[in-house]
Amino acid sequence: CGIVGYVGARPACTVVVDGLRRLEYRGYDSAGVAVVADDEVRVVKRAGKLTNLTKALAELPPADRMRAAVSGIGHTRWATHGAPTDRNAHPHASADGRVAVIHNGIIENFARLRDELEAAGVELASDTDSEVVAHLLAAELARTAVPAGVGAGAAAVAAGGAAVGGRGTADEVAAPVGAGALDDGTAGALEDGAAGTGLVAAMRAVCARLTGAFTLLAVSVDEPGLVVGARRNSPLVVGVGAGEYFLASDVSAFIEHTRDAVELGQDQVVAITADGYQVTDFAGTPAVTQQYHVDWDAGAAEKGGYDYFMLKEIAEQPKAVADTLRGRLTEAGEITLDEVRLSDQDLRDVDKIFIVACGTAYHAGLVAKYAIEHWTRIPCEVELASEFRYRDPVLDRSTLVVAISQSGETMDTIMALRHAKVQKARVLAISNTNGSTIPRESDAVLYTHAGPEVAVASTKAFLTQLVACYLVGLHLAQVRGIKYADEVAAVVAQLTAMPSKVDEVLAIMEPVRELGRSLGSAPSVLFIGRHVGYPVALEGALKLKELAYMHAEGFAAGELKHGPIALIDNGTPVICVLPSPRGRAVLHDKMISNIQEVRARGARVVAIAEEGDTAVAPHADHVVYVPRTPTLLAPLVTTVPLQVLAAEIATTRGHDVDQPRNLAKSVTVE
Ligand code: G6P
Repeated sequence: CGIVGYVGARPACTVVVDGLRRLEYRGYDSAGVAVVADDEVRVVKRAGKLTNLTKALAELPPADRMRAAVSGIGHTRWATHGAPTDRNAHPHASADGRVAVIHNGIIENFARLRDELEAAGVELASDTDSEVVAHLLAAELARTAVPAGVGAGAAAVAAGGAAVGGRGTADEVAAPVGAGALDDGTAGALEDGAAGTGLVAAMRAVCARLTGAFTLLAVSVDEPGLVVGARRNSPLVVGVGAGEYFLASDVSAFIEHTRDAVELGQDQVVAITADGYQVTDFAGTPAVTQQYHVDWDAGAAEKGGYDYFMLKEIAEQPKAVADTLRGRLTEAGEITLDEVRLSDQDLRDVDKIFIVACGTAYHAGLVAKYAIEHWTRIPCEVELASEFRYRDPVLDRSTLVVAISQSGETMDTIMALRHAKVQKARVLAISNTNGSTIPRESDAVLYTHAGPEVAVASTKAFLTQLVACYLVGLHLAQVRGIKYADEVAAVVAQLTAMPSKVDEVLAIMEPVRELGRSLGSAPSVLFIGRHVGYPVALEGALKLKELAYMHAEGFAAGELKHGPIALIDNGTPVICVLPSPRGRAVLHDKMISNIQEVRARGARVVAIAEEGDTAVAPHADHVVYVPRTPTLLAPLVTTVPLQVLAAEIATTRGHDVDQPRNLAKSVTVE
């Protein structure tokens, strides 16, 4: 789900809808906008894709004032409470129509708040948890309303905002509390936090009553030049333009207008006007904010000639892998991890590692376990972030928890890392998103530098997460001094060759696409592998589920005989990820046996094997050869054909591979 707010000189509906389009990749099932026009809060919202919303907006009469409004909010919703209908789409207006609100996240105490509102005679118009916020804001505004003639809210914020957060101010700015902090002290509408009046104060007061996760934006009929936002456990970023300001779930929403941004911290409220922004906590205390410049541009978030972002992102993998490695391998073969702020002594003290992650990032963690344990001899567990804290894991000061998250905003992973911190474990984040929650809350960070990943299904982020995990493992091994020192030095050299090997794989993908076109009608596709080929099999199956909506399962090849082999029927495609016959000959031989087992039961065997592996061809219907790679690094090349295969099967079946149904790029609810 995505959130956009805008105040400036341009038509807000257009700017907001464009922003929502750039956030489409996050996944959604309905969309809407609200603006203040002609003393009214106007809301247009539709279930389904953004085109349904833009069609509805296009049908407005040419002279409709909604077109000219210069401030507004917009939302793409991924349903949690209530079905994806027009009615449940955001924005939600208060019963008196004076306030509209959009919300990402989950308000956990919403049932109690709803009961309270209903007892007070408010009728709720939707099934969402979010709607209560609109009514609570309206009630708070009514309670604190200033008699006519005293202080005009929007004008006051405009003045206050300009004083604190205008473009070109120093990086560190302490925002005063509302307009009350202005020298002349004339404006009466916004001072004194929860005790004040106007939308900003109402937002602070309401937020203090909410539990759960939220990013909220609101507009009010009484303050047309103002958008107010707030956040807890869910991202919100301010875009700092010239005479225009933005609020969004992430910078890609406004990157075409400005690359200057401010990330909001936990439990903060922000007010934007055409003249500036101001940030406080829920009590109204000014917050110190840090403005930064985004180092990629709108072009990096465009499709660049590909039909889908996903295809572009698959093609970008050699560069992404190179970017993750850049500056981190010295000529002497040493690993330097500048952003890791844990001391060598801290790292020597580590006696146990937990990797926590979700989805594709979890699969990166599964690969990492093989590498890290082998190189460092430190026990390493990999756990789904959503399970981690609920089973009371044994953690202490000498435990290193590695949280892997492309977005840095996955709520399951955030909660796992918070649990780890409470237990005094050290947390290292591997993330692709600068300044996101997971890196911010961790003791150390390793950024993957993959550039924006727009397609919901993760590809280049996965490969770069693998590289980051290898770097962490090698670094730990070097710092601690281990018996495989020679091997580690060799791996460092081999890692530098990986971008060109990934490139080689991409160059020979046409037969894989052709194969993909023939697999679209299979009722089920199985993936098997051993050692690091096992997580690759899981990732191959996940990609196929996500993109093609086909039944797909990944198994450890040795586990087949204990049950899953019963699934094999005549013609069942089985994708087999083979290890190098040079590296682990025993594993390779065992895989060949597994292939024979499935083939004997009618499977159609597709093998992903290393160049020069002559043993596999007699047993497979198709062989995809990938370049020679050390066993532990092989997932960097063996995953690529599985990504291409899934994308091709899905497009053959007519699916949009960038925005698979029911999925979101960043899942900010537990
Ligand atoms: C969502 C996405 C997946 C992704 C997972 C973890 O479920 O659809 O593609 O792997 O979240 O995301 P993260 O941002 O934490 O890596």
